Amino acid sequence: MNWAAILAPYAQVVEELKVKLKGMRNQFEYDSRHSPIEFITGRVKPIPSILEKAESRQIPLEKIEKEIQDIAGVRVVCQFVDDIYTIVNMLRTRKDLKIIEEKDYITEKKDSGYRSYHMVIEYPVETIDGLKIVIAEIQIRTLAMNFWATNEHSLNYKYKGRIPTEIKKRLQRAAEAAFKLDEEMSKIKYEVQEAQRIFHRK
Ligand code: GTP
Ligand code: MG
Repeated sequence: MNWAAILAPYAQVVEELKVKLKGMRNQFEYDSRHSPIEFITGRVKPIPSILEKAESRQIPLEKIEKEIQDIAGVRVVCQFVDDIYTIVNMLRTRKDLKIIEEKDYITEKKDSGYRSYHMVIEYPVETIDGLKIVIAEIQIRTLAMNFWATNEHSLNYKYKGRIPTEIKKRLQRAAEAAFKLDEEMSKIKYEVQEAQRIFHRK
């Protein structure tokens, strides 16, 4: 397998999506409107992780590009839960990508406590061999959800996916605390925006 050749379009997609999402953020800022985007990260899945996933799911090498949907991954991190749905709605109207799957792990959290909004998209990218449709995953989450997921991910790595029960329970409680924080902040968001509207009128 020529991995460099296979992965090059994925790297292109990650970069293009990052540019476009940062463009959205800048437009909100020029407009002096609250930006629903706090920051954006992206990565191409490392080859050993691709091979590991293919092996654990018994995906033959020729089906990897179709069946591993997070080879290209972009993460959008927001301040408030509402912002997530603002981005979701904006992405739904875009003509430059096609959403093929959506999973709302915010209203329906995972057993681990994980929350985020996931989208799998098809994104057309120009390559030296012509147009290629690349599958990519977009994860949209709040700062609090991101804090939780990052720590849980580290623990999963440390314990090779078998986190001790006591720590698992703590993580579930921490996930609830993070969600309460998001709820409280959402209430403050409304207050702040109302205050700004009144201030603007004067
Ligand atoms: P994958 O093969 O991992 O993509 O599983 P899936 O197809 O069922 O997709 P799902 O939407 O459940 O998860 C995809 C991605 O979301 C993962 O690769 C992680 O980045 C993230 N994720 C899902 N569940 C968890 C979790 O419990 N903890 C953390 N930290 N991340 C998670
Ligand atoms: Mg997936």
